[in-house]
Amino acid sequence: MPTFYITTPIYYANSLPHLGHLYTTIVADAVSRYKRQRGFETYFLTGTDEHGINIQRAAEREGRTNKEQVDYISGELKRMFHDFGLDSGHGGYDIFMRTTEPFHYEGVQHLWREISGNKTPKGNDPIYKGFYEGWFCAPCAAYKTEDEYYTPDGSDVPFCLIHERPLDKIAEESYFFRLSDYGDWLTETIEADPGLVRPDARRNEVLSFIRGGLQDLSITRQKSSVAWGVPVPGDENHVMYVWLDALSNYITAIGYGNEERSSVGFDKFWPAVHLVGKDILRFHTVYWFSFLKAAGLPLPKMVFAHGMWLDAEGRKMGKTLGNVIEVDVLHQYFQTDAVRYFCLRDMVFGQDGKFGYENLIERSNADLASGLGNLASRTFSMISKYREGKIPSGKITEENYIHARRAGLDPDGQEIVSVLDHARDEFLRRFDNFEFSQALEVLWTVIARIDKMISDSKPWELIKEDRQAETLNAVLYRATETLRWLSVLLAPVMPGSAAAIYSQIGLEGDVSALDPAALTWGELEPGTQIGETLGVFPRIDKSKVMNEIADRTEKLHEQQQVSPAAAEVPASEAEPVEDDLITIDDFLKVELRVGEIKVAERIPNADKLLRFEIDLGEEKPRQILAGLAEYYEPETLIGRKVVVVANLKPRKMRGLESQGMICAASLEGDDLAPAIATFKEDVKIGARLK
Ligand code: MSP
Repeated sequence: MPTFYITTPIYYANSLPHLGHLYTTIVADAVSRYKRQRGFETYFLTGTDEHGINIQRAAEREGRTNKEQVDYISGELKRMFHDFGLDSGHGGYDIFMRTTEPFHYEGVQHLWREISGNKTPKGNDPIYKGFYEGWFCAPCAAYKTEDEYYTPDGSDVPFCLIHERPLDKIAEESYFFRLSDYGDWLTETIEADPGLVRPDARRNEVLSFIRGGLQDLSITRQKSSVAWGVPVPGDENHVMYVWLDALSNYITAIGYGNEERSSVGFDKFWPAVHLVGKDILRFHTVYWFSFLKAAGLPLPKMVFAHGMWLDAEGRKMGKTLGNVIEVDVLHQYFQTDAVRYFCLRDMVFGQDGKFGYENLIERSNADLASGLGNLASRTFSMISKYREGKIPSGKITEENYIHARRAGLDPDGQEIVSVLDHARDEFLRRFDNFEFSQALEVLWTVIARIDKMISDSKPWELIKEDRQAETLNAVLYRATETLRWLSVLLAPVMPGSAAAIYSQIGLEGDVSALDPAALTWGELEPGTQIGETLGVFPRIDKSKVMNEIADRTEKLHEQQQVSPAAAEVPASEAEPVEDDLITIDDFLKVELRVGEIKVAERIPNADKLLRFEIDLGEEKPRQILAGLAEYYEPETLIGRKVVVVANLKPRKMRGLESQGMICAASLEGDDLAPAIATFKEDVKIGARLK
């Protein structure tokens, strides 16, 4: 059996799952189901990227340990994948990979040793020890070169061009990967195989980046600054750079360098097809290809970079604009198959797309409820009404040709066979080429054609004429046989609905196991009793659902005490891209008050948090938790007057409720004690800062 291995990126375990994660995973799931149908033994990987400074910081922020943080986020991702039928229980992914798994450590360390033992294409050692001084962007998890940052007026430090936030200055001993020796090899390799990096526009970007000159890459961080990572073999003081660690997951998951996963089979499944967002293509080509080459391993079969979902107006999605598509809303108000269909049909794979609840409802109503769903329900109800639920024969005898023609039907059926054959071939060609939207479009032209056959031939008139009995039979047979084809072809895209249509035709067995390439017209047995007819795609009441979603979003905003002001900006006036700025009104919502620390103490088993009781001039002091334990002896803080955020929603940490926040600031990337905002003046307890 031929094999096929497909991967999504492994998602950062620092923030909750969102549409982007859902999207890439839906696409990979559809491709994996498609390949399985085509006779491949498939392996489909998704998972979480669980190391690095970002995770460490997220854990600190949330008052969790690193392990608690990654367990929590990977749990949430799994829950989302389960909700959308993407988990293994639903025939989805084969592995949910986690980089904190011991077998992964073993595999990456093996890879490190292999690389160390080889030479670069220019005959040098691929890894060497040096000293790194540079600007690091934690959200990108990457060092930034001069053309990737800017220094805003009044700032001493540069800002990342992508995240528009300050970079961390890093100066430390580090191991380097000699990436500069791989430029020529990379260019030749990528140029030699046009299918290796896709689509073309992205491939050209990668090539021009390489031609711009590659610098050696720092591939470790000192344990003292980032402890949460895979240790470098033979050097306890360093952990591996997250991208080296994360990219390797694609091979450790199938048994590279470890025993535990070897039964999956590295030799059997590698090389993979990687689906990634365009934001991380460089890592998956320049870095990943070079690491693999350095270890003497084959390159991936293909890396395909898809575009980003923007909102309905074409703006980047973000909290500021309040235009984020909530996965929970998608799950609550839409059928999974409608979401899957929309993702694959609406975005041209490789280009950016626009996602709004309204677009989703409109497409779902037009293509699914009125299109495919309506074709199925009208066909089945006519078979019930006119033929007692039995699928009639599609054959027209020659003496009835003339009547069939009168009803607009091609009597021997050759035309419809060639339309369907052509549509199937075109669908498969497009799907094989990752042109999902175009592939689906082809099937909807078939639906339009069959709809037209029905409305032109008017079965409700044919039933009145005896001599049109065969014509009516043929119309019903052709519509049902087309539905059978559609259910087989659509199974990877809409597994649940395809199975429902297949069984409503009266067919048994697993439609997902049928090879669409083997579809042959006429294999549907006349005489088959159709199954119970149930609507496959209910029509969505657009204004009702839109109102409900709007109410829900408003409530959520209230709960989070996030100003909906930004969301209310009319589209035309809104900034075209998210800018992360807040208005003065937003800022004034923050209630800052003077508080005096009455109690300060350590919390058992918590290294970072201190528990305070702070007098804000209210009936009783507030309990507030803050991550200051590593820097301050609690006793020394008692009696201090501090600035407290007094209207923060209470939240629980370590089982204790924190009812506010102490204002304190530290320099990011610096290990110094945070400065606590305090007063020399004799300020009144509880006074509001304005
Ligand atoms: N952890 C790295 C990947 C390591 S792979 C070895 C990472 N994680 S991430 O959580 O930031 O996920 C990035 C991926 O999410 C993108 O590449 C893309 O697959 C998906 N998307 C994130 N935002 C998206 C949109 N707005 N639209 C579509 N997909 C997007 O990077």
